[in-house]
Amino acid sequence: MNDPSTSLPPIVEAVEVSKSFSTATGLSARVGGRKFVQAVDRCSLRVFPGQSVGLIGESGCGKSTLGRLLIRLETPTAGDILFDGRNITRWRGTRLRRFRRHMQMIFQDAASSLNPRNTVESAIAEAVCAHRPELERPRVLGHITALLDMVGLPLATLDRLPGELSAGEKQRVSIARALAVEPRFIVADEPVSSLDRSSEEQILSLLATVQRELNVAFLFIAHDVETVRRMCSLVAVMYLGRIVEWADTQQLIATPAHPYSRALMMSRLSTRPSQKTRPFLLQGDPPSPLEPPSGCHFHPRCPHADIQCRKIVPLPRTTADGRIIRCHFDFVDGQRMAPVEVSDILELDS
Ligand SMILES: Nc1ncnc2c1ncn2[C@@H]1O[C@H](COP(=O)(O)OP(=O)(O)OP(=O)(O)O)[C@@H](O)[C@H]1O
Ligand code: SF4
Ligand SMILES: [Mg+2]
Repeated sequence: MNDPSTSLPPIVEAVEVSKSFSTATGLSARVGGRKFVQAVDRCSLRVFPGQSVGLIGESGCGKSTLGRLLIRLETPTAGDILFDGRNITRWRGTRLRRFRRHMQMIFQDAASSLNPRNTVESAIAEAVCAHRPELERPRVLGHITALLDMVGLPLATLDRLPGELSAGEKQRVSIARALAVEPRFIVADEPVSSLDRSSEEQILSLLATVQRELNVAFLFIAHDVETVRRMCSLVAVMYLGRIVEWADTQQLIATPAHPYSRALMMSRLSTRPSQKTRPFLLQGDPPSPLEPPSGCHFHPRCPHADIQCRKIVPLPRTTADGRIIRCHFDFVDGQRMAPVEVSDILELDS
């Protein structure tokens, strides 16, 4: 995918955004059993018009929550969401609903976002009519036909129900429906992870075409870097609610800077049969987000951790080669250098 001109202002921006969820309800909450999951912890991210940004990390690290925050399907606990320069953090009700047509979400499980009793025609017509209520039926049909053509489905699909479609076809319908409102920003939340290899390829090239031809900006969520590699010029790596590295995708793949990114890239290489070097594999499972480790959340699994990592939260900082990382150290050829100036690191963890 081509990089758009970043001289334009971002289409969407998260500024130090956080989201916590209460996990206890009913009686357990009333007797003091309330606990909070810090799903997203002061994340900042920008997506420019027509740009495609990847978001990767292990299951439960907060990718979907951050995506939902960006399109205001969730309200942040702290921080701001800006869309096209407007602060939409506290928008609600009709104002937010009307505005949301600029942003859409494509889910992993297309079936769950389609009503099983609605034909493809009515599923897409609903979105077209909500967006353009002034259109008369022949023009609505014209729009639907053009959308089907765009996503590579034959006209005969119009009368079919979701249950009569393959997983790849259902995903095409949900993409057509998302495009019906002419969005400027789409969060694609693992849109190919439930598809077989050939459908995955087709859906990825369809999304690449949409991005290129319609100039739609994307946040592309995935578990691994392979899918974002061909789709995204930039990628953010998340670990337990925090963005730990934000870099050019090729740069991240070739020379990951944060120890967690390095572990992710190594585990990717270790799945290749030709790989000879001994990979550094992540030890243990990710910690519980209910009781995240102090200081740097990654310290119990990091081979470079020292005392300050356990005590001090690393804040985002820009490295000499222009990426943003949350780590107290710089690394050269995988070797840890002296810690960066402690005066840049403001926050102590108990
Ligand atoms: N509505 C909610 N109520 C309570 N906890 C939630 C809610 N939504 C998400 N969480 C918790 O927030 C954390 C982040 O969840 P999220 O779904 O954003 O992760 P993810 O990175 O998308 O995971 P996956 O890769 O499995 O989709 C998890 O611990 C999850 O259990
Ligand atoms: S801050 Fe410390 S524990 Fe965290 S990634 Fe860097 S070296 Fe590892
Ligand atoms: Mg998710």
